[in-house]
Amino acid sequence: MLKGKKIVVGITGSIAAYKIPFLVRLLVKGGAEVRVIMTPAATDFITPLTMSTLSVHSVIIDPFKANSGEWNNHVELGQWADAMLFAPVTANTLGKMANGIADNFLVTAYLSAKCPVFIAPAMDLDMFAHPSTQKNISILRSYGNIIIEPQVGELASGLSGPGRLEEPESILQILNDFFASRKPLDKKKILVTAGPTYEKIDPVRFIGNYSTGQMGFSIAAEAAARGAQVTLIAGPTHLTVSNPGIRRVDAESADEMYKACLMEAELADIIIMAAAVADYTCEQKSAVKMKKSSATLCLELSPTKDILMELGKQKGKDQVLIGFALETDNEIENAQKKLQKKNLDFIVLNSLNEKGAGFGLETNKVTIIDKAGHIHSGSLKTKQEVASDILDIIS
Ligand code: CTP
Repeated sequence: MLKGKKIVVGITGSIAAYKIPFLVRLLVKGGAEVRVIMTPAATDFITPLTMSTLSVHSVIIDPFKANSGEWNNHVELGQWADAMLFAPVTANTLGKMANGIADNFLVTAYLSAKCPVFIAPAMDLDMFAHPSTQKNISILRSYGNIIIEPQVGELASGLSGPGRLEEPESILQILNDFFASRKPLDKKKILVTAGPTYEKIDPVRFIGNYSTGQMGFSIAAEAAARGAQVTLIAGPTHLTVSNPGIRRVDAESADEMYKACLMEAELADIIIMAAAVADYTCEQKSAVKMKKSSATLCLELSPTKDILMELGKQKGKDQVLIGFALETDNEIENAQKKLQKKNLDFIVLNSLNEKGAGFGLETNKVTIIDKAGHIHSGSLKTKQEVASDILDIIS
């Protein structure tokens, strides 16, 4: 799977750097083209000569070429690579990557990456457990980077715990699996909707639902990581987009989301409607705050436009349309009916009956049904993994 793949390996100043010559050897043996970057501190642990011999290319350490007035081009390297693998990564470099502190060539190359990025931290267990390290790791995850978790075991300090760099054979396997499983979505235009919609009652109240947007945001991040050009139409949510491959458009109400979807849909190759759009909106929206004037209150609601149904009607010949269904009874049958009625290619069925699946949770369990009637039943997974499964099946 690695044959012909262009891989940048970035090494930082950790004792675990001693494992990287072996890893580079495995990569080269697997047919990959490897370029090595080292931080100055990494050269205290292993020599550039070792790395240049094994990778069959000179190693880049400094942003500038010595005594030549020339610079090493991190942008070119960022465009060249099919994947960047940073291993081992110290707490210091994790912080720099998470916060864009580009004071060495390795971080400038990281910031220029246009490809999937793998980061394998290695450090002492207390440093790894520190909230600042954990925060930096979750920031890097939010950028769409893949974290290769350190292993639990004996550390250079003599202590034992999580912090050991993953073994070279396992890192190689992770890269192999990545290239094997990911069908690229290069240059595909993907429109994703996410989150709830809010239907105004008056200036301070609304009708909403419990959707957090996590599923749609995970799909958008996964699609961008696979090279797609992603537009994410987001309902009100606290989630933020940090992946530069995603263009975000905000929409508060079902009507705003409808208009945004119609505007964006024509150019999309794939549309994934993960938003929990309100089915009804207030017939009258009060311009001023409503007063408590009677014992009961009746709000008259009228149906919103069914965005998915509309997109199904105007679906282009090669366009792929995916809807979500949230069912509590006769789940498969109801989802299949929705798939047909809305002219979908796939429907992703969420069940509220599954423990660990649904609104506001980190995990989800879905069944994906295609228009030919194939049913793919998934197990309980993180929303990121579910997003990956959905894109695998669509691909
Ligand atoms: N949807 C939409 N526009 C709406 C309501 C829903 O585009 N006004 C989309 C959702 O984004 C989702 C799919 O329709 O992809 C299914 O939503 P769901 O609420 O489960 O189904 P409904 O068609 O609204 O039917 P019901 O609520 O009766 O089950």
